[in-house]
Amino acid sequence: MANEVKTIGILTSGGDAPGMNAAIRAVVRRAIANGKKVKGIQKGYQGLLNEEISDMEARNVSDTIQRGGTVLRTARCDEFKTLEGQKQGAEICKKHGIEGLVVIGGDGSYRGAQALSKQGINTIGIPGTIDLDIACTDYTIGFDTAINTAMQAIDKIRDTSSSHERCSIIEVMGRNAGYIALWCGVSTGAEDILLPEKYQYNEQEIIDNIIANRKKGKTFHLIINAEGIGHSTSMARRIEAATGIETRATILGYMQRGGSPTCKDRYYASMMGAYAVDLLCQGKTNRVVGQKNGKWVDFDIDEALAMQKDIPDFEYGVSRSLSI
Ligand code: ADP
Ligand code: F6P
Repeated sequence: MANEVKTIGILTSGGDAPGMNAAIRAVVRRAIANGKKVKGIQKGYQGLLNEEISDMEARNVSDTIQRGGTVLRTARCDEFKTLEGQKQGAEICKKHGIEGLVVIGGDGSYRGAQALSKQGINTIGIPGTIDLDIACTDYTIGFDTAINTAMQAIDKIRDTSSSHERCSIIEVMGRNAGYIALWCGVSTGAEDILLPEKYQYNEQEIIDNIIANRKKGKTFHLIINAEGIGHSTSMARRIEAATGIETRATILGYMQRGGSPTCKDRYYASMMGAYAVDLLCQGKTNRVVGQKNGKWVDFDIDEALAMQKDIPDFEYGVSRSLSI
């Protein structure tokens, strides 16, 4: 059993995600409720190396639960990928009395937490990414808000596509993962959903599908394209040339990462923040929090990083069969 943690640090790292503030708030207040001191670290591992560290009290997180983004700011920091940077980070934690650290971010951020754990700082990761691409958990902070934001935007594009009888390609975020595309595609009734995990790069199949749908009486056509496939603008040009149907591309971009978190993101993030503090209070380190089959769980970071995740065949099959 590791030494008792009296002071808990918290940082957000990688891309921001709506709901991160609810997690920060939960960490701060659960820790204080357990008699711990809390230190907030600004701008991820970069801020740690720059010693941008300050005390956090319960009132510092007032009026934040409903806000998008992260009040601690976030950053990417290549220096932290080096052993030297990690040793320096651990020394800075020790200098500030931080024995336990909660890291909210994705897989990359977990690797930083894993490195700090090896340097003697107790670390717990919380999954914070709109991409849902963390294998050890069914839920990641921000996904629910992002898909609802994207869905509402796609509904608007559907209106104008329908009026003009056009084909629309809408590109959604997700890096190399297709979860945002799948959920948004199914929930907006898209005719085609292009996922990096499943896409065969067969554009002729899409073109044939558009032409066949016109013959079946469909007057417009929505294609949800995942960022991991990309090239939506050039794809639109080629589809228009091949089908003779006006085709437009819209890349939704960063609007998907902002905005007030949904109830689910606030609730789950609150639970995960509290769970992470409880793990630190039990002397745990090198763990990540997750939600699996409706239960709160935690895994060793090494084990979590080795897990694989894929789009379930059943869900992909349903998406195909509902777009006939
Ligand atoms: P995410 O956490 O969303 O996956 P990144 O992959 O960009 O985002 O990682 C966020 C940050 O985590 C990086 O900028 C870096 O500071 C840290 N990080 C990423 N990979 C490693 C690694 N192998 N070792 C230590 N730190 C890492
Ligand atoms: O991981 C979240 C995410 O928004 C991805 O969907 C996207 O590929 C990436 O971050 C964009 O990162 P950046 O903010 O560095 O452009």
